[in-house]
Amino acid sequence: MIEQQLRTALTDLVGVRHPVVQTGMGWVAGPRLVSGTANAGGLGILASATMTYEELEKAIIEVKGRTDQPFGVNLRADAGDASDRCDLLIKHGVKVASFALAPKQDLIKKLKDHGIVVMPSVGLPRHAEKVASWGADAVMIQGGEGGGHTGSVPTTLLLPSVLDAVDIPVVAAGGFFDGRGLAAALGYGAAGIGMGTRFLLTADSAVPQAVKELYLSHDVNGTVVTAKVDGMPHRMLRTPLVEEIEETSAVKRLAPTMRRTLEFKRTSGMSWLELAKDGRSMKKTQGRTLAQMTLAANTPTMLKAGLVDGDTSAGVLASGQVVGVLDDLPTCEALIDRVVTEAAASLRRTAGFLA
Ligand SMILES: Cc1cc2nc3c(=O)[nH]c(=O)nc-3n(C[C@H](O)[C@H](O)[C@H](O)COP(=O)(O)O)c2cc1C
Repeated sequence: MIEQQLRTALTDLVGVRHPVVQTGMGWVAGPRLVSGTANAGGLGILASATMTYEELEKAIIEVKGRTDQPFGVNLRADAGDASDRCDLLIKHGVKVASFALAPKQDLIKKLKDHGIVVMPSVGLPRHAEKVASWGADAVMIQGGEGGGHTGSVPTTLLLPSVLDAVDIPVVAAGGFFDGRGLAAALGYGAAGIGMGTRFLLTADSAVPQAVKELYLSHDVNGTVVTAKVDGMPHRMLRTPLVEEIEETSAVKRLAPTMRRTLEFKRTSGMSWLELAKDGRSMKKTQGRTLAQMTLAANTPTMLKAGLVDGDTSAGVLASGQVVGVLDDLPTCEALIDRVVTEAAASLRRTAGFLA
């Protein structure tokens, strides 16, 4: 692990050496990746939306066995057992709670009362304002170029508007991969960067080698944002399966969708009522069809087929556009060292422009 070169509000808040976050990615951000990041001085975040409660506890214990550095857990705020999962974080002294959707106010308070840093992800300034007013310690923005579920506002526009909206530390994610990006984010006023796709494509990630190579073969136009897989805009690799889904009618997709929904219900711990609520609010806010609403629950199963089982003909592969500029699989340590060293050099160089 290299010496600290950049001290920011994030490094101070969380107690990590470098302002670099490995974001929570379902099926990807497991104990090996998280501890690899933590041991390299970054903030690794364990993805728990695709784990049962028991699997999450086992994974937390495994990370603690591999590192004594701080790390985080990414949670689904709408999971039926979200409060129990928060108790698990408290029990095991996890440093950071990250949320894909805005957590409830009482959940934020409970975590903070136990010294856990609460950092929800946001896609709009008003969401940042809301969670900040509820006591969140920091927010992570994800620009539209980012992988997984994503909005349409690019990082270059979302980041300054969220920085203008809130006074808490803001971590920038969506499209980052190198030290120039980290220096630029700090220049905007961010406290650090989060990277998903870049960490998926490391030697430490458990994604099968052939799947990593498939990612690396895609260029910047090799991803697509589709709502047809789960009813919500989701950026993934443009594979033959995704192109077929794009062309198939909603009615034909319904039967396989129902099967995967059942599997997801079992894993996520969400009740039928919660799944239905999810669907209803989606229909109300985004005008989804019945078939699309059902699809919302089965993406995790399709992601598992691609990312864990390596079956790209049955699975989907979430990815940021940044995949198109990546061509190697460094270890987490080599990646973080490189990003931090480059960022420091870039900041020194740009300071030379001052008249
Ligand atoms: C394979 C994959 C899975 C993801 N799963 C989750 C998840 O479970 N929870 C979450 O909050 N974000 C998830 N994301 C989004 C990332 O945490 C992160 O915000 C995004 O990847 C940043 O953009 P980048 O890929 O350009 O770095 C996922 C992204 C990818 C690529």
